[in-house]
Amino acid sequence: MSFGLSRGKPLDVAPGVVMVSDEELPPLPDAALTDPEAGRVDPRDWFPHRAERPDRRFEIEIGSGKGTFLCQQAALSPEIDYLGIEWAGEFCNYAADRVRRSGLANIRMLRTDATELIRWRVPSGIVDVVHLYFSDPWPKSRHHKKRVVQDRFLAETWRILKPGAELRVVTDHDELWAWDREHFDRWCGTGPCPGFDGPTPPYEEISFAAPDSAREGELVGTNFERKFREEGRTFHATVLVKRSPPTTGD
Ligand SMILES: C[S@@+](CC[C@H](N)C(=O)[O-])C[C@H]1O[C@@H](n2cnc3c(N)ncnc32)[C@H](O)[C@@H]1O
Repeated sequence: MSFGLSRGKPLDVAPGVVMVSDEELPPLPDAALTDPEAGRVDPRDWFPHRAERPDRRFEIEIGSGKGTFLCQQAALSPEIDYLGIEWAGEFCNYAADRVRRSGLANIRMLRTDATELIRWRVPSGIVDVVHLYFSDPWPKSRHHKKRVVQDRFLAETWRILKPGAELRVVTDHDELWAWDREHFDRWCGTGPCPGFDGPTPPYEEISFAAPDSAREGELVGTNFERKFREEGRTFHATVLVKRSPPTTGD
């Protein structure tokens, strides 16, 4: 049985099939408060085929919504494993149901706050791309702390990315883009980058290139992009590439 958001039918996406189960992501141990490594769980192990192919690429999408980007892109990239993270239960289940019906084995869905998962659970240096498309703008100033892009987020994303790996960002929202820009300019320029003791600058900024799954004229081809294009909105897009510390002799 499947379900539809608008019809309000029961949600039936089995944990451990598309949705990451509680066994796969057990509660954060208390020890993580003093030892950050104690809470790490390798999400690449949530893909059973990985045991035979441990070098598979691994990408995370933050705020997958109805899963449009994930389903389109994963179908074209069977060599990549995708973790979709969505904190709204209804959307997460909708996306998971869509993934299950697509039969794609290279997507898992997790319902949680992606910024917390990245901070507490994801090991260092394992992710090839973090996708952040049409993130919620939280326009009221008292809600700015809920925006995904923060100094801590940029520090933790740098930590989980492989050297040369990418944070890819698209938004339609001018005010959110101004906020993002202010952060990106510091993290791709002379700083300061609070709480970060890696290379300066931590990231290099490059132009955004559309993924293979985007249609003609699209940047990514998510649900929100398609809706906003019909409304004639304009978009902002960029890519931050992880720079690594110079090795001895550089
Ligand atoms: C505006 S929607 C965009 C959905 C999709 N990316 C698209 O472009 O169609 C933003 C989504 O991100 C989710 N979201 C926002 N902050 C999140 C977070 N910290 N962790 C996980 N999901 C988040 C929201 O629940 C919402 O579904």
